[in-house]
Amino acid sequence: MQFKTRTHTCGELREEHIGREVVLNGWAATRRDLGGVIFIELRDRYGITQVVFEPGFNEQAHHEGKVLRNEYVVSIEGIVRKRPEGTENPNLSTGTIDVLVNKMVLLNSAKTPPFMIQDELDVHEDLRLKYRYLDLRRPKMQQNLLLRHKMYQIARQYFDANQFIEVETPVLMKSTPEGARDFLVPSRMHKGKFYALPQSPQQYKQLLMVSGLDRYFQVVKCFRDEDLRADRQPEFTQIDVEMSFVDQEQIFATVEGLMKRFYKEILNRELELPLPRLTFDEAMERYGSDKPDLRFGLEMTNLNHVFSNSQFRLFQDVITNKGVITGLTAPGCGDYTRNQLDVLTDFIKKLGAGGLIWIRVKEEGLESPTMKFLSEEEQKNLAASLNAKPGDLLLLLAGPRLKTLNLMGMLRLEMARRLQAITPDAEPKLLWVVDFPLFEWDEETKRFYAMHHPFTSPRVEDIPLMDTDKGAVKARAYDLVLNGSEIAGGSIRIHSSELQSKMFSALGLSDEEVKEKFGFLLGAFQYGAPPHGGIAFGLDRLTMIFAGEQSIRDVIAFPKTASGMSLMDECPSPVDDSQLKELHVRVRS
Ligand code: AMO
Repeated sequence: MQFKTRTHTCGELREEHIGREVVLNGWAATRRDLGGVIFIELRDRYGITQVVFEPGFNEQAHHEGKVLRNEYVVSIEGIVRKRPEGTENPNLSTGTIDVLVNKMVLLNSAKTPPFMIQDELDVHEDLRLKYRYLDLRRPKMQQNLLLRHKMYQIARQYFDANQFIEVETPVLMKSTPEGARDFLVPSRMHKGKFYALPQSPQQYKQLLMVSGLDRYFQVVKCFRDEDLRADRQPEFTQIDVEMSFVDQEQIFATVEGLMKRFYKEILNRELELPLPRLTFDEAMERYGSDKPDLRFGLEMTNLNHVFSNSQFRLFQDVITNKGVITGLTAPGCGDYTRNQLDVLTDFIKKLGAGGLIWIRVKEEGLESPTMKFLSEEEQKNLAASLNAKPGDLLLLLAGPRLKTLNLMGMLRLEMARRLQAITPDAEPKLLWVVDFPLFEWDEETKRFYAMHHPFTSPRVEDIPLMDTDKGAVKARAYDLVLNGSEIAGGSIRIHSSELQSKMFSALGLSDEEVKEKFGFLLGAFQYGAPPHGGIAFGLDRLTMIFAGEQSIRDVIAFPKTASGMSLMDECPSPVDDSQLKELHVRVRS
């Protein structure tokens, strides 16, 4: 099967090549037989070129071309010609020319693929994942991988130019509680012992700072055994960063510099710096989320002051218990029917709300079953606080503070969807969220957890509160948010072994546990740990947004399904008993 090296790619030929003899290699994307002339669209990574088998031009080649079917792999030799008037294809960059075939070498045949290799595709994602190698032949998927490649290159150039060094950290590490569940790897040589796959290189990058590396970055796989969503995979990629002798401002400047380059080189936009910042509290109060989407308004309003002396039992209770009454104005939705309002109520109840208070704004005043509980004064102040206009719909939620704000944040997103408040050409919105709480209370286990991770430093002025009022301690932690998605998160770290011990004990870890799990880190901190801090980008999420995709699976070559399966190679899969035995593992039925 002799074939010639290509002279051009399938995306390259233009009118200036007319008359040239060329060799193209690729896949037969489509085949048409019109009046004895065979037209093939030949595809490779670079584009599509129409090649033509004309009996009058070369009988032998035409005869050979008859065997071609979709996805056959061929090499052709031929002559570039201008397409006959009226047959140009403006959708192809090569659309004004085609290639008359002189010779064809069939390099491989192909079974009929389970779906057409084209961008507009209406098949279940499972089928695409099962035949991922075919799915990745689609131009859009190839563009996504190319975009991802470009992002690696930009990041590496940027960090290299700024004195960061890329260091690889282990993939087999010690299991340490970091937030999510670990993936474990049983050790063959050490019976009953396990490695864990890193949830992130957090501890290693901190140790590299103790080693004096000063500025570290790594494009790195992380593994978390958690419930999956459109923007979560069990293995995902971070651009991980750590710096010594810095405060938050220097980390922000470094990250903003990289984002500016991404904007310029990927989106062809100028990013204005410095980026806006919201505190966690502001973000929760105004947008009901620690990753607010600022592409649209629909801001929430705290209404506690309106109802501070209310006779309405629900509001009284909420205020006494330091909860929140929050409101949202849905402009022009005052004509929602009872049925539509029930759907909205169901939506928010399913997410955990006790109920939804809705109010239609009429010329004559507010209309709602709840109005009978509110004084005239309250109604007036409520309308003024929510800037209510006739024709609007007011939505109110009341309950425990963070939970209720969060629920209203979800309702805000739902109303934005219904009002089509995010237009496809909406300006991307990037911001910092700062001053996160250090601890997060878990109702189920009735204890505090580290909101970010246990290595995050509290604000210096809040350290005394660690003993008296944990919920009030703010962390030196920050997230970078793009279009309502958390694309990076980081913090200034604790670098003293005393404060780190204090943190562990505040989290309820016993001395033994700390020694067993984090002894090496605390030990390292006793040998001159510099002040340090860092951040990690979720590369998949960032690429997803830049590519305009809705799922990170579309920017990962071989992703897992929402239930953590790889449909192509069918993993996870059972293993031989002998393998289990070697690993000292028994599967319980
Ligand atoms: P964090 O846990 O916030 O921080 O992760 C950093 C970023 O990684 C992305 N991300 C994910 N992407 C896809 N699938 C997942 N399952 C997933 N989980 C997280 C998010 C997130 O912002 N070691 C710290 C960083 C630091 O403090 O420097 C860390 O891992 O975009």
